[in-house]
Amino acid sequence: MNYPGFPISRPRRLRTSPALRRLVAETQLNVAQLVLPLFARSGKKLRRPVDAMPGVFQLSPDEIVREATAAHALGVPAVLLFGIPDKKDDRASGAYAKNGIVQQTVRLLKKELPSLLVITDVCLCEYMAHGHCGIVAGRKILNDPSLALLARTAASHAEAGADIIAPSDMMDGRVRAIRAELDNEGFLDTPIMSYAAKFASAFYGPFREVAESTPKFGDRRSYQMDAANANEAMREVALDIQEGADIVMVKPALAYLDLIHRVKKEFGLPTAAYSVSGEYSMIKAAAQNGWIDERAVTLESLLAMRRAGADILITYAAADVAKWLKG
Ligand code: PBG
Repeated sequence: MNYPGFPISRPRRLRTSPALRRLVAETQLNVAQLVLPLFARSGKKLRRPVDAMPGVFQLSPDEIVREATAAHALGVPAVLLFGIPDKKDDRASGAYAKNGIVQQTVRLLKKELPSLLVITDVCLCEYMAHGHCGIVAGRKILNDPSLALLARTAASHAEAGADIIAPSDMMDGRVRAIRAELDNEGFLDTPIMSYAAKFASAFYGPFREVAESTPKFGDRRSYQMDAANANEAMREVALDIQEGADIVMVKPALAYLDLIHRVKKEFGLPTAAYSVSGEYSMIKAAAQNGWIDERAVTLESLLAMRRAGADILITYAAADVAKWLKG
């Protein structure tokens, strides 16, 4: 299209008042898009703060209910649950234990807050003594033998009442294995939100302090993606969709906006952006130093994810954002 130039065109005409700017705003942030990640560990009345993430805690199940109730009252529709088990081993048995920390917490949440959507992160790293996301032999992370454990974990979450299953391990074929197991166990209507394009990212640093999931040797580069690769990310997403993903995720968010955009455009599925721990910590740290405006920078970052094409925003700031959006 051929737009007329200046002085016929004056883009500033549409910026002259707050109401006019709102009227022509192309993108909105809405509380209905927010997902709050929460970290469960056993105990009562436990709120253990995390150095690298001010405002984030390891919470006992009763405190998870408290935190989720407060966020839900502000309009946050969903939480994403992680678990920190009492014991780790080399088969991640805590991940699929009938009374594991996530399973217990899901049951309690669904009982106390039935209208809250409970999404569970399915991974093995928090439950493995070595901290990797799959079964390890020597220094290798094995793909196919890990699938059964992941599928079993997913089914145990669904059985506890999880509304959405979110595998984050990046083993090949895990969405297919999880879909098959869920269907087999009668959970035909439990959706999968796959961490489809998940990168081996230094932005996960603070999370590993909260989740106590730092690998004891090596790193995650043999299963999580290389930050250099965008076309490969598109292939990863396509594969997950073929295997049965209902919602796809790009993670991290802010440094990967190009992929949020491409994924939404190419596949059109509900697309989630995970604004990860490092993104949150950077904003918190700078704000605590008085260097940036926490609220403005957080909202601007999330708006950028929406503009890129994200429908769902996973953020540790979800409750604050919900408050800010109320005015
Ligand atoms: C588990 C998992 C991780 C994150 C979400 N699920 C850590 C990792 O892959 O090392 C990171 C989330 C964040 O940094 O906020 N595999």
